[in-house]
Amino acid sequence: MKKVDVVLGLQWGDEGKGKVVDVLTPNYNVIARFQGGPNAGHSLHFNGEKFVLHTVPSGIFREGSMNIIGNGVVIDPAILAEEIAQIEATGVDVCARLQISKRAHLILPTHRVLDAASEAAKGKAKIGSTLKGIGPAYMDKTGRNGLRVGDILMPDFMERYNTLKAKHLEQLSHYDYVFDITTYEQEWFKGIESLRRFKFVESEQVVNNLLQEDATILAEGAQGSLLDIEFGTYPFVTSSNTLCAGVCTGLGVAPTRIGEVYGIFKAYCTRVGSGPFPTELFDATGETLRQVGNEFGATTGRPRRCGWLDLVALKYAVMMNGVTGLIMMKSDVLNDFETIKVATAYELNGEMLDYFPYEADENIKPVYREFKGWNCDICGVRNFEEFPQEFKDYVAFIEAETGVPVKIISVGPDREETIIR
Ligand code: GDP
Ligand code: IMO
Ligand code: MG
Repeated sequence: MKKVDVVLGLQWGDEGKGKVVDVLTPNYNVIARFQGGPNAGHSLHFNGEKFVLHTVPSGIFREGSMNIIGNGVVIDPAILAEEIAQIEATGVDVCARLQISKRAHLILPTHRVLDAASEAAKGKAKIGSTLKGIGPAYMDKTGRNGLRVGDILMPDFMERYNTLKAKHLEQLSHYDYVFDITTYEQEWFKGIESLRRFKFVESEQVVNNLLQEDATILAEGAQGSLLDIEFGTYPFVTSSNTLCAGVCTGLGVAPTRIGEVYGIFKAYCTRVGSGPFPTELFDATGETLRQVGNEFGATTGRPRRCGWLDLVALKYAVMMNGVTGLIMMKSDVLNDFETIKVATAYELNGEMLDYFPYEADENIKPVYREFKGWNCDICGVRNFEEFPQEFKDYVAFIEAETGVPVKIISVGPDREETIIR
């Protein structure tokens, strides 16, 4: 019996999960999302074109692979239907390649309004959410009020929708927030109708049956480990389990059935939205990373906050996920740096810390180790041996610190700009 391999982000999201999943898809029969929703924005580049996926797994463009949206995902039918229409416009038969869990929860139009109203009420303390209704949808899930994909097929779906909507409108009456969902609600119901042609499945059965038949499955994470609801920089996190453990609950896979865990990180670090970021740079270097790395959100277009690689945080994420292989992305963005810094410890109130603490806030001062930059263009490299020595030293240091091999290196956004060791 085969095991499920996992690709997940080790930082605050946007590590390049979409690109890597697309690259790895030819090795797998199935690609499955296990958490998150349209807050995700996964970019794929191939044949000179760029696609951004939000809810659909990043295996969708490869012929011969099935894609599954698992029970742990939250779905906005308006956004999903639009995304599917865009993929279909490229000639892909999405219906033949995509299955959706009946147990996945629905994001209602009023969840989006609740997200926006809650953020507006928080003022400066806002999370910086993507305003897709993620938090309120997961709250209704754990509060046992949610609507699920399987409910769409029930005769009393409209009644259940209206009951939940009424509850939301009552909640919204406590906010000083003006809204009008008429147009969005129409889009939402159009989305519901267009989703009816898809296969709604017990994805836990599908996945486990496939494993029995020795099929290969890759689970695709969304967001990143430091945005995890349990172990991220709470409350500045998302509302799902982004860690490897989320694969078990978000797909119905037993812990003993988890195989390789690929942890993705950028050669530096970014964050979008509010919350602590110990190695954030507010100077010209930070701006250079943003411009060279084109660090603007794939979902919201917001500029991403940029800084040096944080090994303290990376080691925490490696530990929490049981990472067996590392994947380093956007190495090319550091091409023109004379020196590159990496945080190897934190200083907090005069004390040195070598772990990611509960108080990982603005009082943390990173302790840096400096590396000589490679200072040349590595975008054309396709074989590890061709990398300059300074680059190899950087990789070797990360491997030594984390105790995990770097198995894949990315030197550009395109599928082809990838080195598999
Ligand atoms: P995801 O959410 O983890 O899938 O990542 P995003 O797609 O939100 O952000 C990653 C961005 O970096 C996208 O614009 C990718 O096209 C781009 N990208 C991925 N890998 C590389 C790389 O190695 N080099 C460069 N320069 N860009 C990359
Ligand atoms: P991918 O999958 C980066 C951030 C938001 C905000 C916080 C909570 O593309 O890596 P939410 O809308 O989930 O309630 O927002 O989490 N966030 C992401 N940041 N990449 C993402 O997804 C993100 N999804 C959510 O910016 O700070
Ligand atoms: Mg993204």
